[in-house]
Amino acid sequence: MAARHFLTLNDMTTSELEQLLDHASRLRKEWRAGKTRDSLKNRVLAMIFEKSSTRTRVSFEAGMTQLGGAALFLSPRDTQLGRGEPIEDSAIVISSMVDAVMIRTFAHDTVETFAAASSKPVINALTDEFHPCQLLADMQTFREHRGSIRGATVAWIGDGNNMCHSYINAAEQFDFHLNVACPEGYEPDQSLLNAHSDRVTVVREPEAAARNANLLVTDVWASMGQEDEQKAREKAFRNYQINPALMSVAAKDALFMHCLPAHRGEEISTDMIEHPTSVVWHEAENRLHAQKALLEFLILNRLD
Ligand code: CP
Ligand code: NVA
Repeated sequence: MAARHFLTLNDMTTSELEQLLDHASRLRKEWRAGKTRDSLKNRVLAMIFEKSSTRTRVSFEAGMTQLGGAALFLSPRDTQLGRGEPIEDSAIVISSMVDAVMIRTFAHDTVETFAAASSKPVINALTDEFHPCQLLADMQTFREHRGSIRGATVAWIGDGNNMCHSYINAAEQFDFHLNVACPEGYEPDQSLLNAHSDRVTVVREPEAAARNANLLVTDVWASMGQEDEQKAREKAFRNYQINPALMSVAAKDALFMHCLPAHRGEEISTDMIEHPTSVVWHEAENRLHAQKALLEFLILNRLD
């Protein structure tokens, strides 16, 4: 049987995603209660990082260990991938020795190429285009605080980047409406917008996106790989900040999320992470639980 991959949220059905999130919440409860679990005993996850990470690395590595398995950190600096060994050759060899492969890289087609040659599941742990693992954690967090997100309005304030693209996929999969407020020239990918035009509204004014929304989300103005654009982006995004004033136009019980790392004073005001609407620490911890559920699904084909 061909391996199942998780390169975008569209690699799972809505029903699978919902079961996965239920399972993730169960794993969270069990883990917090001190229960141990060895569902992935003797299993190995290879983790290829071509970009920096704190949450993704710690959550996948800790998650594998907590489930009785192990994780290998592979950097292009000290593997043959960094010296030009073809992606396909690397995929055949690495996947012949481990049970799943996680990749964080630049171009999305790198994970597609790797997955096409891999005999084991491949997980996209962030590309320039998508960050689906973060959406699992975000959707789990919303459910744990507010129940189903079906029919809700989510406001994305800022860059039409990889996180925003995964929010567009989530809007389709979880049945909510996404308002995107971004400056001209920083819109999400046009073909993705065209494919989901009934789900996504792009506006210029943050207030227009945030009004009566149930969830406000943002991300850094310059993503990894865009460091040279930092100054220009600071100028373009100056008015695209989530702060208590913007939260006050949202729905009464609205939540605030940020995938982190955050730049206080840029995309969020300095007081936003501690604001009563903020669930960012819970969201960050849920990377661990959501991905443990994902690993069990991909490696063992189980969702409970
Ligand atoms: N949110 C997220 O993916 O964080 P890291 O870059 O620290 O992994
Ligand atoms: N958009 C950000 C997300 C970091 C988790 C980036 O790609 O750098």
